[in-house]
Formats: sequence, C-alpha cells, structure tokens
Amino acid sequence: MARKRKGEGQVALVTGASTGIGVDLAECFAKDGYDLILTARSEALLKEVAERLVAKHKVKAVTIALDLGQQGAGRRLADEIAARGLSVDVLVNNAGYGTAGAFDGSNAAEQLGMIDLNVRALTELTQIFWPGMLKNKRGGVLNVASTAAFQPGPLMAVYYASKAFVLSFSEALWREALGTGVHVSCLCPGPTVSKFRERAGTGRTKLKNLGTPMSAQSVARMGYRAFQSNRRVIVTGARNKMLAGMAPFLPRKTLLNTVHNIQSPA
Ligand SMILES: NC(=O)c1ccc[n+]([C@@H]2O[C@H](COP(=O)([O-])OP(=O)(O)OC[C@H]3O[C@@H](n4cnc5c(N)ncnc54)[C@H](OP(=O)(O)O)[C@@H]3O)[C@@H](O)[C@H]2O)c1
Repeated sequence: MARKRKGEGQVALVTGASTGIGVDLAECFAKDGYDLILTARSEALLKEVAERLVAKHKVKAVTIALDLGQQGAGRRLADEIAARGLSVDVLVNNAGYGTAGAFDGSNAAEQLGMIDLNVRALTELTQIFWPGMLKNKRGGVLNVASTAAFQPGPLMAVYYASKAFVLSFSEALWREALGTGVHVSCLCPGPTVSKFRERAGTGRTKLKNLGTPMSAQSVARMGYRAFQSNRRVIVTGARNKMLAGMAPFLPRKTLLNTVHNIQSPA
C-alpha cells in the first residue's frame, strides 16, 4: 500500500502561480499530495501549470484567474473558492511585483498597485483564511517577501517598503500562532531567475552585477521546507543571508548609500 503523503486531504492556495517562484512552490505542495488552487491573471498559463502538476503528482488542481491588485479581489477569490465547495488549509502569498527607479517621476498607478498587490491583497487573503486555520489547528501561511525587506530601498522605495511590511506582518503572525498547530513562514529570496526582473527593470541596475541569481526551483524548495518546519524566516542562499544579517548592524547612512548604489543604473 502506498504511503500517505503529508499534504493529502489538504488544499494549498498559491497566488502568482502562473510563472516563476509560484509555479515551483505549487509543485512542492503537489509533490507532497496537497490539492491546489492556483491563481494569477494569466488563465492559459495557470491551466498549463495545473495540467502538468495534476498529471505528474496525482493531485487535484483548480485555476482561478483574477487580478489580485484590484480592490476586493481577495474577497472575490475567497467567494469563488467557497462557491466551488473548497476550503484553504495553506495560503501561499507569492504574487508580487516591483519597479526600480527614483520615486520622483514614477508612475502613481504602478507604485500604488505594488501596495495593492504586495501588501493589501496579501493581508486581505490572510485575514479571510486565518480563522479557519486556527480552528482546524493545521495549515498556515507562507508569505513571499524578499531580501529587500531588511532595509529601506532608495531607487526602489515602495517595493522595499512593501516587503518590509510582509516580513514584519509574517513574524508577528508566527508569534500569534505559536502552539496552535498553524505555521507561518516568510520566504525572503534574493535575486532569482523569473519574470520579476523584466517587470522590475532591475536587470538594468548594478544589482545584476551582484552574482548569479538563484533558480526559482531551489528558492521554492527552501521556502517549502521552512514552512513545513514552521521556520519563521528563511533567507535564501549564503550571500543573501549574510547581507540580510549585516543590515541591522551597519550605520543607517552607510546602508542607504550602499542600496542606492546597487539600485543605480549599471
Ligand atoms: N525574482 C526575484 O528576484 C525575487 C526576489 C525577491 C522576491 N521576489 C518575490 O517573489 C514573488 C514571486 O515573484 P517571481 O520572481 O516569481 O516573479 P514573476 O515570475 O514575475 O511572478 C509573479 C507572479 O505574480 C503574478 N501577478 C503579478 N501581478 C498580479 C496581479 N495583479 N494579480 C494576480 N497575480 C499577479 C504573476 O502572474 P500574472 O502576470 O499571470 O498575473 C506571476 O504569477 C514576488 O512576490 C516577488 O516580489 C522575487
């Protein structure tokens, strides 16, 4: 008889599951037997991901295409999930984007859209599914922040601030949930191969000289393992860990100058 997989009977909702880290996070959950709800805006890509993971890992997967940056989108997503008779055990808040450049002259819709997606939708979804997790004493939340969360980011100010929120919020919830059986982890990747860089424009800054980006697959695996062991924060890769660990000890002005330099055009 086949051994029961850890996630069997549970459902993981993964946002931003059409490309990049989200696809690989979804695969980590599927591999362990979790059924999936995959969401992002690109319906065709979501369907491709779902079909592949269903065939490979023998799980169920539904796709719900929507723009999580719109006001109330989290509620609409939750209603759609309930209408399909599904519940959520694990919420993976992965959808997010950044834009590099000076705040002066930046596009207001892009800046505010980052807050709507990276912060507002993440908080809204967590608030919706959190009580059920606590009641069931299982599951939890895996939030994707960034190494950007550990310091302010001149020339990418709103993105860094949005990820600082994600880190702070996640750590606080980790403590609130301690001892309940509900896990909370915050995955903080450094540069990772995905479409993020195209949208963010970070390929044109000195950030690209900081070494080879990690693969989305290895980042996702680290995040998944951290979540399973209820590790509060996971920074991916030794160099990223060292830089994030140093940030609180550097004089603030030095830190701001360093990030300003890294985020400057190459
Ligand atoms: N790659 C990096 O270097 C890096 C480093 C640190 C942290 N991160 C974080 O990792 C997370 C995943 O990013 P990634 O690197 O995998 O980038 P990605 O390949 O661009 O993936 C972003 C995902 O978010 C979805 N998304 C974007 N806007 C959305 C919206 N308005 N509504 C719903 N879904 C939306 C995208 O799908 P659609 O376009 O189909 O909607 C896609 O599935 C993000 O939170 C990012 O901030 C990335």
